[in-house]
Amino acid sequence: MSDLVLVNDDGPVRSVRMNRPDKKNALTLPMYEAMADALESAVNTTALRCVLIAGQENGFCAGNDIGDFLNMATGGGALAAPILRFLHALARCELPLVAAVRGNAVGVGTTMLMHCDHVVAGTDARFATPFARLGLVPEAASSLIAPRLMGHARAFSLLVMGRPLTAEDAKAAGLINTVAAPDAVETEALKAAQEIAALPPQGVLASRRLIRGTPDTIVARIDAEAALFRERLGSAEARAAFEAFLARKR
Ligand code: COA
Repeated sequence: MSDLVLVNDDGPVRSVRMNRPDKKNALTLPMYEAMADALESAVNTTALRCVLIAGQENGFCAGNDIGDFLNMATGGGALAAPILRFLHALARCELPLVAAVRGNAVGVGTTMLMHCDHVVAGTDARFATPFARLGLVPEAASSLIAPRLMGHARAFSLLVMGRPLTAEDAKAAGLINTVAAPDAVETEALKAAQEIAALPPQGVLASRRLIRGTPDTIVARIDAEAALFRERLGSAEARAAFEAFLARKR
């Protein structure tokens, strides 16, 4: 397991922590692989009841590594397999997912939360999905889940206009459950994970299935978005946006 993703089992709770603080937890392909491994194997580990996804104090996740996006764009445009594997694992995960968010959650940093069952965010959290600004389209089935969660107007503002949400906005939009002081985020999230883990597991599993419905619809949307994403990654608009980001400090 790469140290860019730290996986730790403590009783019934598995924590999966993105650990690339120098790049604000921008996700690379090995990180997606490690996170997919952690989610997929959690379901087969009998002692586990809940998975807690966390980032760093200086940020939850800055989205996909933009250098990797540029490589994918020049290499034919397909979303790399580890990304799709991670998104499918999120959608198909049978264990409840809790997240602890501090600082920026950008791109997949925000859309992965749409698959979580309980999210605690700090007052310092900021959620943004600048897909259209980068010449891209939404991913992780966010084009389906976001309008269901928050209605068309707020989903358009987030996913297309790229306007960020504060923690309070995100709570009002139904994306997160609780806003906490930054130092209390991890404790609150762990408390929620332990609360879920202490419930009768079969009751939780069956109830969660009813609430979420079949993952097939979500997986089909992930795949439909990925087909469009491929076209967009190869576009001149996207390439110019990636190059501008990578050149901004030079
Ligand atoms: N891909 C690659 N590198 C990234 C990155 C990303 N998505 N996000 C941040 N980084 C890198 C920066 O280039 C910088 O590297 P450097 O120190 O070698 O110059 C480092 O992480 C720190 O980022 P910085 O921008 O200085 O931090 P910040 O606190 O000022 O801003 C963000 C944080 C997340 C708001 C900002 O980094 C950002 O907008 N990142 C891009 C987010 C994005 O568009 N993701 C794709 C979504 S689809």
